[in-house]
Amino acid sequence: MPLAGKNIILGISGGIAAYKMPLLVRLLKKAGANIQVIMTPAAHDFVTPVTLATLSGRPVLTDFIQNKEGLWHNHVALAQWADLMLLAPVTANTLAKMAHGQADNFLLAVYMSAKSPVMVAPAMDVDMYAHPATRQNLQQLQAYGIHLIPATKGELASGLTGYGRLEEPENIYKHILDFFKQKNSLSGKKVLITAGPTYEAIDPVRFIGNHSSGKMGIALAEEAAKRGASVVLVLGPTHLRPANPDIKVLPVTNAEEMFAGVTEHFGTADMAVMAAAVADFTPEKPAEHKIKKGQASLSIPLKPTKDILAYLGTQKKRHQILAGFAMETENETENALAKLKRKNLDLIVLNSLREPQAGFKHDTNKVTIFVKDGRQIDLPLKSKKAVAEDIWSVMESLKTD
Ligand code: CTP
Repeated sequence: MPLAGKNIILGISGGIAAYKMPLLVRLLKKAGANIQVIMTPAAHDFVTPVTLATLSGRPVLTDFIQNKEGLWHNHVALAQWADLMLLAPVTANTLAKMAHGQADNFLLAVYMSAKSPVMVAPAMDVDMYAHPATRQNLQQLQAYGIHLIPATKGELASGLTGYGRLEEPENIYKHILDFFKQKNSLSGKKVLITAGPTYEAIDPVRFIGNHSSGKMGIALAEEAAKRGASVVLVLGPTHLRPANPDIKVLPVTNAEEMFAGVTEHFGTADMAVMAAAVADFTPEKPAEHKIKKGQASLSIPLKPTKDILAYLGTQKKRHQILAGFAMETENETENALAKLKRKNLDLIVLNSLREPQAGFKHDTNKVTIFVKDGRQIDLPLKSKKAVAEDIWSVMESLKTD
């Protein structure tokens, strides 16, 4: 039984697609999971609690107090019980409340207390799903680290056709199986990641930097943590932070500090991915005071920074897996393969500069992964989160001695 002993909360809100949830409960129960169904009051109009209670083997919860004795259901204890909380179907209304922290029913109070990962599978009419407010709420929830099972395209209850259909229960079930399969694949492993740009001081107010936002490295850190790794993220200057509080963030400013942070942790790491866009040069001697204008021209002497990734390549033990990134403007494959070899890496991720939606600052990326064993994996344009999943799957496939 693939889900034996897993505790899953299924939160149902009030949409037509709620009628499909008994099927999902059956699939999950058959796989060995313990299911606690929570419904919003509106959901009762679409599917009966009696069916869900019978199939799940537990009373369905809707209110904080649900019996004559006035027994209060403890939303915090319930939230802690769960290994996964799934909200399906989730309506535009419940999504909005989740995105804004409104807890005016029992389901939302449990959600806001959840210690476990949370998944949402939205279902609503096509225009509601496409509405900018819904788009923004979904984006916000994803930024909180919530897994989205996107609505699919098809005929909707209104008679309209388009995106807004709840993903089929069989596919939601597959998402859940994948989630638990991946969940512990890195447990017991220590993972070290760099992300973001570095700022090299010219004087007290100016620096040499680059356009990196840190999104790719942060997505890698989130994914590794989701798979159970203990994660240290050495993060250059960016306002972004991982949503998962278990990720240990070490903020740094320049290449030298990044080198120090990385070398402090590499000895005990099992896997390391250097995703930061580290400056290759830094001012030889930053000016002590702000450089004034008034001179005809200005030259700033630069010296090379230490190549952190190349250094780790020289220190790497047989059990450690090391990955880097490459950004090339010409002879991409040759250069990436040369870098893989020169820096003694197990894999290198080549960022495509030809794709307008890929690279710096975007939420999507298009990469090719080159593995030491000769594999070349060309991936289509996808979200940085999905790219991170692929990178970890390849990392996990590598054998260490
Ligand atoms: N990198 C690093 N430390 C540096 C420079 C780069 O750890 N001082 C890492 C990056 O995090 C990335 C990889 O090296 O994983 C590739 O960086 P890139 O700038 O593409 O390559 P370089 O090694 O700098 O080579 P070149 O500039 O010749 O392309």
